[in-house]
Amino acid sequence: MIKILAISGSLRKDSFNRKLLQVAKKIASNSEVQIKEFDLKENSLPIFDQDIAGSMPDSVKKIMEEASWADMFLITSPEYNHSISGALKNAIDWISLDYTKTTKGKWAVIFGASTGIYGTLRAQAHLREILGALGVNIIPQPEIFIGSVEGKFDEQGNFNDEKNAKVLEDVINETISLCLKNKEN
Ligand SMILES: Cc1cc2nc3c(=O)[nH]c(=O)nc-3n(C[C@H](O)[C@H](O)[C@H](O)COP(=O)(O)O)c2cc1C
Repeated sequence: MIKILAISGSLRKDSFNRKLLQVAKKIASNSEVQIKEFDLKENSLPIFDQDIAGSMPDSVKKIMEEASWADMFLITSPEYNHSISGALKNAIDWISLDYTKTTKGKWAVIFGASTGIYGTLRAQAHLREILGALGVNIIPQPEIFIGSVEGKFDEQGNFNDEKNAKVLEDVINETISLCLKNKEN
């Protein structure tokens, strides 16, 4: 049984990336997995400060515990000024304090949606590098860039971009299967 932690880098209530994360969770739930979501808005983490790392606030303890529990991550981020959101980077900086438990050797599916045409390409390049520094495995191809996202979700949050939905499904399924093989060895 693969344990998955889902995180959206956008805190915005009507965020496209939050909606996309729900689509990804639904796809993943077709396999034998357990899924938790860590909501960066509900569990507001303080700005990373090594001076307070010794007496971690509850929200930090919670993300440390949930990341340690997980075998795999589903991470979506908006692109802000050609990079990932500050909220997501902040969360990663916190969990990196105990990276041998929280990230090392684990797997991630990274994806993102933006209103611009490149669909978070530049943000994801950064995210791949950051997670690489923490020993997270991410399959190299295909990548999931959802550009010009306005109009790609209906009122119920259904995603109507069939081509990208299929790529997302393929990457999630392949990552679950690699994560499972890795866990069995
Ligand atoms: C501060 C800020 C910076 C942004 N920078 C970029 C950018 O570099 N590239 C891009 O494609 N979109 C950029 N956008 C537009 C976002 O793609 C768009 O707001 C998107 O809806 C944010 O994701 P969300 O819907 O999940 O909140 C930016 C938006 C904001 C508010």
